[in-house]
Amino acid sequence: MNDSNFVEMIASIAQAFGPSGNERNVREVIEPMLSGCVDEVRVDALGNLIAVKKGAGKKIMLAAHMDEIGVLVTFIDEKGFLRFGNVGGVSPFISVGMRVIFENGTVGTVWYEEKMDSMKELKLDRMFIDIGAVSREEAETMVCVGDMAVFCGEAVETNGRIISKALDDRAGCAALVALARMMPETENEVYYVFTVQEEVGLRGARTAAWGIMPDMALAVDVTDVGDMPESHHMAVSIGKGPTIKIKDSSIVCHPDVVSRLRSCAEKAEIPFQYEVLTAGGTDAGSIHLTAGGIPTGAVSIPTRFLHSPSEMISVEDLKGVVNLLAAFIQAGEESQEEDLSSGQDGEDTNDAGEN
Ligand code: CO
Ligand code: ZN
Repeated sequence: MNDSNFVEMIASIAQAFGPSGNERNVREVIEPMLSGCVDEVRVDALGNLIAVKKGAGKKIMLAAHMDEIGVLVTFIDEKGFLRFGNVGGVSPFISVGMRVIFENGTVGTVWYEEKMDSMKELKLDRMFIDIGAVSREEAETMVCVGDMAVFCGEAVETNGRIISKALDDRAGCAALVALARMMPETENEVYYVFTVQEEVGLRGARTAAWGIMPDMALAVDVTDVGDMPESHHMAVSIGKGPTIKIKDSSIVCHPDVVSRLRSCAEKAEIPFQYEVLTAGGTDAGSIHLTAGGIPTGAVSIPTRFLHSPSEMISVEDLKGVVNLLAAFIQAGEESQEEDLSSGQDGEDTNDAGEN
């Protein structure tokens, strides 16, 4: 896949409408992209999209979530303004002045009650959405209490980076699609899992992991960075390669999975960073606690402006993610032990970085 096709693919997945619990549109964008490169595609009861590449070796589950954050109509006032709640982690400060769009195409502007002593009082329940309706009756012809909307944020490419809404975690979804389409030769049985409801509590990944019972798993998601002006201390930068997660608030990654990732990255000469995320979790958090326990780790995409309509990633980082995942699913068990005991590379791993 050349660069412009890759960027186009990321953009088309990112732009699909898919707040938590309403991932159907995203599934419909991804599913056709997988045709011909996997042996089986199914959708489970909660809506997880599971694509299987059969193999006689270990069952490896790779998970990226399809859902995105959004808002939910809780009340419509007599003048037609919508009051709303959050779907996942929505910041009131980031939301002011933004546009949201409902599945039926209705667009509105997010604003706030102006009689506030301080912006510290800015909470979602002091805010509203204006969809241009002049009465409750009119608004009710456009939206309904319980309807969800997502933030608008078109996809653009700038200097090797992509800015878009919902790169959390459509960038991860795009990495899995790119990997599946690369069709890496492997003995292992690979499950490409596009999960639902991560943003509201890592939910879809849990049922998917139960259904699959993999021997090991990786979550592929975005992570925070510490490389902007006056950022908090975090040893992750955009443009320096994928991260190998050590810990976040949902998981301490399994040491065997971490070392397998590290040795794969080193052998394939993929630059990588270690990630310790002090707040926030990923699908790995629910997968590792499933079915008696599953050795789980995570590979993340360094992302600026997380949970805003203008999330930013580096295309090179995302390619690094794809290459690292390819090496990971191709690695045999013995190649890792060998790597840990001696510094010599076996012939079995020579092809790890060729994709
Ligand atoms: Co998120
Ligand atoms: Zn995410």
